[in-house]
Amino acid sequence: MKATNTMTLTFDSLPVNEGFARSAVAGFFAQLDPTVEELCDIRTAVSEAVTNSIVHGYRYSQGKVRLTARIYDGRKIQIIVRDTGCGIENIEQAMEPLYTTDPEGERSGLGFSVMQSFMDTVRVTSAPGKGTTVTMQRVLSSLADEETQQE
Ligand SMILES: Nc1ncnc2c1ncn2[C@@H]1O[C@H](COP(=O)(O)OP(=O)(O)OP(=O)(O)O)[C@@H](O)[C@H]1O
Ligand SMILES: [Mg+2]
Repeated sequence: MKATNTMTLTFDSLPVNEGFARSAVAGFFAQLDPTVEELCDIRTAVSEAVTNSIVHGYRYSQGKVRLTARIYDGRKIQIIVRDTGCGIENIEQAMEPLYTTDPEGERSGLGFSVMQSFMDTVRVTSAPGKGTTVTMQRVLSSLADEETQQE
């Protein structure tokens, strides 16, 4: 299916850019008039994916994070967060709730679970030493649905 609108951003792997990425995505999807809850879910999922690239992907290095957001017909949205950091050895294990490689114990290992609960699908591809790509999709409620709910 062909996207009807697309945006791509590339930024440095600095923690300060996590908030920027979240706001940029929310701004882009505002054209779809999402509900407050949908926008909040999207912001949170993006925040988790971008934070992972910054703190895990580039744990031992610095690099670029690439964020792509797409809108398809039928109110389907897609968000892709990509880094060229250290990659993930075992994706299945990494996506298990509470699994974390954070040695200081500051993280809870729930980032992927949060992404999965807020988006319809979350797909992760990764290659050790090459980087990680997280692709998330969700179908937003239709405007007609909302109007019916308000009646
Ligand atoms: N982009 C990435 N690059 C390399 N490793 C990653 C990446 N994203 C996730 N991981 C690995 O997957 C694990 C699980 O990620 P997840 O987001 O679920 O938990 P966390 O980041 O450890 O903790 P939390 O998100 O709750 O703060 C991470 O601890 C890390 O080992
Ligand atoms: Mg995380």
